[in-house]
Amino acid sequence: MEPQDIGLIGLAVMGQNLALNMARHGFRVAVFNRTPATTEKYVAGPAQGASILPTFDWAELAAALERPRRVMMMVKAGEPVDATLGQLRPHLEPGDVVIDGGNSHFRDTERRMAELAQAGIHFLGVGISGGEEGALRGPSIMPGGPEEAYRRVEPIFSAIAARAADGEPCSAYLGPGGSGHYVKMVHNGIEYAVMQLIAEVYDVLQRGLAMSADQLAELFAAWNQIELSSFLIEITAKVFVKLDPETGRPLVDLILDEAEQKGTGRWTSEEAFALGVPTPTIHAAVAARALSALKEQRSAASRLLAGSSHAFRGDRQRLIDALQAGLYASIVCSYAQGMALLRAASLEHGYGLELATTAKIWRAGCIIRAALLEDIRAAYSGQPDLTNLLLDDHFRAQLLERQGAWRAAVAAAVELGIPAPALSASLAYFDGYRQERSPANLIQAQRDDFGAHTYRRVDREGVFHSHWSE
Ligand code: 6PG
Repeated sequence: MEPQDIGLIGLAVMGQNLALNMARHGFRVAVFNRTPATTEKYVAGPAQGASILPTFDWAELAAALERPRRVMMMVKAGEPVDATLGQLRPHLEPGDVVIDGGNSHFRDTERRMAELAQAGIHFLGVGISGGEEGALRGPSIMPGGPEEAYRRVEPIFSAIAARAADGEPCSAYLGPGGSGHYVKMVHNGIEYAVMQLIAEVYDVLQRGLAMSADQLAELFAAWNQIELSSFLIEITAKVFVKLDPETGRPLVDLILDEAEQKGTGRWTSEEAFALGVPTPTIHAAVAARALSALKEQRSAASRLLAGSSHAFRGDRQRLIDALQAGLYASIVCSYAQGMALLRAASLEHGYGLELATTAKIWRAGCIIRAALLEDIRAAYSGQPDLTNLLLDDHFRAQLLERQGAWRAAVAAAVELGIPAPALSASLAYFDGYRQERSPANLIQAQRDDFGAHTYRRVDREGVFHSHWSE
């Protein structure tokens, strides 16, 4: 039998669809799943007729592959990745390439890369975004690791990835080490931020302006035609259309308001704190998910803590327009924060990331794909060392034009007692970033008072300490 081009381990839906995608592009794929019944069901069902070879033990999988081998794991992040590697490892040889396509933490990826490198085995940590549909029709692929290993899988990745409007594949080599998984982590941090921003705007529209699901569907569909155009806005419009078959009510109204999370947004926050990069919109989104999970406490508190309850009395259309402007400006801030984190991480970890390339491969296929990513790509391609996206001429103009409306949107939410932590955090990020003088002088004085931590002065060089009670 002809050797297979690639092996794919893990036949949950992402793995199933990626294998189908590879097969559709002419690659011969050997698949393996821990539970043989899943493999049997897959080849008899969705994979029927595709060039997909089922294998039922590790040796069979290894023997089926062209050498040096290419093996991709699509298993749950964490312990299952180590367990899979433990089983696979004895069947590999120097020169083989192992790919982890899950949402692994970049530090785990770097550890595994170092361990396998000792045996001459290459390891790639590859972020894959786009959910089930993306895996099947074209995801965004974020590969990181040894470049020579990447070159061996490049033809497969470039073929199966989504294509941007200019025909370019949404996959490109990002850098060494765990850079691929780092970029995917930050992608998810931005994903959390944008989802939270949309949810806050929905809250103001629904509770503040009493808009119906039909009206919301129409509004978000219209927003998807303008500068807000993006996958997350598009699916939001679709969500409002869906009715519950039993009750006939909008299904979204019947969903329990507790957002779950698998951790990638939190990791982004943790890394941002570790590197001292301000990403307040992402933090706000992570905190909002945690607050949403306190359903019982919130139910009890809702009976004790009466807030502002007056109805909106202003111009409705004006508020809708303000929310549109504020949402766009806040989304720009989310990307600016994510990009600033990538810039710092690239320096810290020696990833050598090109931010234009990152923006380029996010333009299609992934969850955060959006029309504005072409502008972000253009910004970084013209200025690879751009310190912050807010300083780019295009985005600077966009934000300055919207700042009045943005403030009005945040003020309306505050006035109505509707929490808008991510919208407010974005606006405060913008205001904080554009302020030459911050109030940190006072914090320095307090630190020096209670702990003799010293301070520097604006009018002369040196380090100072004062006795503040005298
Ligand atoms: C993607 C997504 C995906 C992630 C989900 C759920 O890019 O396709 O980021 O990888 O698993 O978004 O994440 P949470 O469960 O943390 O919300």
